[in-house]
Amino acid sequence: MAPSHFNKLLSFLVLLKLLVLFCSFQVKCYASTITITPFAEAKALFKWKNSLHGGEAHSNLSSWVLPSSSNSSSHCNTWYGISCNKMERIVDLNVPSMSLTGTLQNFPFSFLGKLVVLDLSCNLLHGTIPVQIANLSQLTYLNLFDNYLSGQIPSEIGQLTSLQILRLTNNNFNGCIPVEIGNLVNVSEVAIFDNLLTGPIPVSIGNLKNLTILNLSQNQLSGSIPLELGNLKSLTTLSLFHNNLTGPLPQEITKLKLLQLSLSYNNLSGCLPKLLCGGGLLQIFDAASNNFNGPITEGMKNCKNLSRLILDGNKLHGNISNVFGTHPKLNFIDLSNNKLYGELQNNWSGLQNLTEFGISNNNITGRIPSGLGGLKKLGNLDISMNKLIGEIPRELRRFTSMLKLNLSGNYLDGDLPKELGRLSGLETLDLSSNNLSGLIPKEIADCSKLWYLNLSRNMLTGSIPDSFKDMTRLSSIDVSYNELEGPVPESNALSKNFEHNKDLCGNITSLRHCEISDMDDIGTNRRPKIVKIVLGSLGGALSLLFAILAIYFVCYKKKKDAEVQTIELINDDLFRIWDFDGNNVYEEIIVTTEGFNDKHCIGVGGFGSVYKAVLSTGQVVAVKKFHPREDGEQIDLRSFSAEIHALTELRHRNIVKLYGICSHARYSFLIYEYLERGSLAKLLRNLEEAASLDWIKRINIIKSVATALSHMHHGCSPPLIHRDISSKNILLNSEYNACVADFGITRVLDLNSSNWTTPAGTYGYLAPELAYTMRLTEKCDVYSFGVLALEVIMGNHPGEFISTLGTSSSSGAANVLLIDTLDKRLEPPNVEILKEVVLVAKLAFACLKTRPESRPTMDSVSQELLTDRLSIGESVHITVGKLLSEDV
Ligand SMILES: *[C@@H]1O[C@H](CO)[C@@H](O)[C@H](O)[C@H]1NC(C)=O
Ligand SMILES: *[C@@H]1O[C@H](CO)[C@@H](O)[C@H](O)[C@H]1NC(C)=O
Ligand SMILES: *[C@@H]1O[C@H](CO)[C@@H](O)[C@H](O)[C@H]1NC(C)=O
Ligand SMILES: *[C@@H]1O[C@H](CO)[C@@H](O)[C@H](O)[C@H]1NC(C)=O
Ligand SMILES: *[C@@H]1O[C@H](CO)[C@@H](O)[C@H](O)[C@H]1NC(C)=O
Ligand SMILES: *[C@@H]1O[C@H](CO)[C@@H](O)[C@H](O)[C@H]1NC(C)=O
Ligand SMILES: *[C@@H]1O[C@H](CO)[C@@H](O)[C@H](O)[C@H]1NC(C)=O
Ligand SMILES: *[C@@H]1O[C@H](CO)[C@@H](O)[C@H](O)[C@H]1NC(C)=O
Ligand SMILES: *[C@@H]1O[C@H](CO)[C@@H](O)[C@H](O)[C@H]1NC(C)=O
Repeated sequence: MAPSHFNKLLSFLVLLKLLVLFCSFQVKCYASTITITPFAEAKALFKWKNSLHGGEAHSNLSSWVLPSSSNSSSHCNTWYGISCNKMERIVDLNVPSMSLTGTLQNFPFSFLGKLVVLDLSCNLLHGTIPVQIANLSQLTYLNLFDNYLSGQIPSEIGQLTSLQILRLTNNNFNGCIPVEIGNLVNVSEVAIFDNLLTGPIPVSIGNLKNLTILNLSQNQLSGSIPLELGNLKSLTTLSLFHNNLTGPLPQEITKLKLLQLSLSYNNLSGCLPKLLCGGGLLQIFDAASNNFNGPITEGMKNCKNLSRLILDGNKLHGNISNVFGTHPKLNFIDLSNNKLYGELQNNWSGLQNLTEFGISNNNITGRIPSGLGGLKKLGNLDISMNKLIGEIPRELRRFTSMLKLNLSGNYLDGDLPKELGRLSGLETLDLSSNNLSGLIPKEIADCSKLWYLNLSRNMLTGSIPDSFKDMTRLSSIDVSYNELEGPVPESNALSKNFEHNKDLCGNITSLRHCEISDMDDIGTNRRPKIVKIVLGSLGGALSLLFAILAIYFVCYKKKKDAEVQTIELINDDLFRIWDFDGNNVYEEIIVTTEGFNDKHCIGVGGFGSVYKAVLSTGQVVAVKKFHPREDGEQIDLRSFSAEIHALTELRHRNIVKLYGICSHARYSFLIYEYLERGSLAKLLRNLEEAASLDWIKRINIIKSVATALSHMHHGCSPPLIHRDISSKNILLNSEYNACVADFGITRVLDLNSSNWTTPAGTYGYLAPELAYTMRLTEKCDVYSFGVLALEVIMGNHPGEFISTLGTSSSSGAANVLLIDTLDKRLEPPNVEILKEVVLVAKLAFACLKTRPESRPTMDSVSQELLTDRLSIGESVHITVGKLLSEDV
């Protein structure tokens, strides 16, 4: 027998013996004797790549070509996303965000036994994780974040004992978390949030001594928080929000040196542990919307490092007067919707970094302390629905950062201070349901950013100041239930309520028409005419002086820093014709719009006015000029040049093309594709134009918007959130093709504006969660899309209709027939189109769900609209309630 044959026989016998040995212990048999060559590995991976769709589109994966000969390992050097060890075996496979579409069923787990890092995140993989993942015994980093993987997480994952980082977030995994996860002794991060997991948190997680981050939020986990988590001595972040957890918060956990503890939106109960900050380091404690019911104790004083405290929507009671004030780092506090009592003290004024303070709907008494005015960074103050008395302190003028002020539903009295006009950044103001009296100060109109103003249900007298017509951003005005009289000022606001006053008049259905006499000095808010004239001419002279000074300044300044920052797309026809000097573009726009003369203005959008500019070449563009920033500073485009380039390169048939952006100390503007028919909002408001917008056109508009949003949310990485989807931002060309305007711009322009993230957007389209969290996600756009879709089929903004969707009462929307809600200016849709209208309504209702995670993704909305399969009856008499109960 030749020696080689002998060797083979020998190894066969050894193998046989091993098999017998293994099997007698009933251990799984491993045929691990195959030697894997680098080429075999490359070939297996190549085969998997070929099973995918989408990857080919990425030039980088086209580098994955099979080595020329079977002893070659050229792939180690030439393949994108691969690196090999000295033995030329693949150790790193990094192909995130490559639009890979397909499954892991053919992934060569058994070949890639040397893999240490596997990153397939942000792709479009679906199907389950195969049990063969256990073959990756050397893996330390596994990242499958943001795919469409489903099924159970295989228990074999527990065999990856070298694992240090495990990220399975944002997939569709269901079933329980396998107890075998407790075998991952070296793991420091476990992130499986945003899936569909059920069942309890496995007690075995308590074994993971190296765990620093555990994030299981946004699942449907039930049962209680295991005490064993108290063994995780390295844990710094524990995030379990949005689950179905019950029972108390174990004392053991608050002793850990946690920095962040997030428990909101569960059914947790019992008292908050006395020593909430046992570890002394806690920075973020978030337990909103649970059933915690004990007192807020003075133990809270130990939480010296706290920066965010969110406890709204519990049953906490106790006196807060002496609990707060010792938390210098506090940035955000929300104690709303509890049963707290006591008084607000001046000691709050020590919280210099506070940006948001909410204690609405409690039992707080006493006056509003003037010391609150010292909170220079406060952007949102909501102390509504308490039992506060006394006047609104004049010191509130010092709230220079204030964006949202809500004092409604108290017993405040006295005048409306004219100092309100000093809150130059104010966007929403709600003083309703108090006992405020006297005149409405005209200075309120100085709050030029105000879009929501509610003064209803007070005892205000006199007339509404004429200055209100200057508040161009106002979308909602409510002065109902006061003692007001005289003419109502003109306003473009979408929602106006002037009901139940003494004697208001105006060109509005609910009011009588004004007589000449109304225009005279009946309104007690007007000065006698003579004084007005004198003041007027004095004012005129002054303003002339100012204008001269301003012109001098602007010109002088322009000379000094005449540099215009311009970033445009060079390879576009429009700008190729110029010699590509930023100043040229800038000046051409200024000249053709005659210095942004009103006669060229074609609309007023969220953050600027839009002008039509006919360039010297004959081409027509739309120019959106931004409102100047409040700090008077120039937007520094250079820091956003990457984003702006990305935006100018964005090409999608349903997204308005951005040609360029100019920023200068005097004017800053965007240059856009011009769409002839203007905004959808404008069309829907106009009787004739709305009638020409037939059902087919309307359905197409909705489909186009869905496609654009889906593309931006899912087609690019990172996803781009619009933040301001409204009918004003949907533009139509001459063929009624719809395009979404302003994609990505809100983010670019807002990035630097303040440390406070204000939800940009239009009143009436904002997702409800923006009221309690600053977390802006794609689901905020999904909500706005739902409003828009209803608006398109109803013919006007659905308004209050949305808030009645959730209620099951007989007066709610549930019993309304869908057909009765449709735009009456059109003939009712025929059977074929009705089917599509019903589908749109069904999807819109799903998009309007209160919980962001219950809303569908834009991807699935757009799929449903395009595939158009409808399982429910398309009867004319379908009710809204029936549609609401349909799952999407
Ligand atoms: C392709 O790879 C290069 C570097 O190798 C990288 O700069 C580029 O961003 C990659 N492209 C994509 C689409 O990932
Ligand atoms: C690979 O194999 C070919 C013949 O199949 C041989 O000519 C070549 O030298 C080998 N290369 C290496 C690096 O072993
Ligand atoms: C890979 O895993 C599967 C399933 O666990 C197992 O049957 C197979 O023997 C393993 N292969 C290797 C090479 O480890
Ligand atoms: C855990 O990590 C340590 C240190 O890096 C290492 O020595 C040990 O082998 C690892 N344990 C496992 C099961 O991989
Ligand atoms: C896990 O923790 C132990 C003890 O703290 C430490 O020796 C080991 O290196 C850690 N492992 C890793 C992978 O960090
Ligand atoms: C979660 O709780 C809600 C209400 O408490 C219940 O309707 C739902 O069925 C629960 N889900 C699971 C998966 O237990
Ligand atoms: C307040 O915020 C500023 C800027 O973020 C920070 O530098 C400062 O340390 C903070 N003050 C306190 C007391 O935390
Ligand atoms: C509010 O507080 C007052 C006294 O501070 C108390 O009499 C009243 O019962 C409280 N009301 C509620 C609803 O807690
Ligand atoms: C009243 O409003 C209607 C429609 O908005 C307009 O046509 C009419 O000219 C207005 N009348 C006055 C007196 O402003």
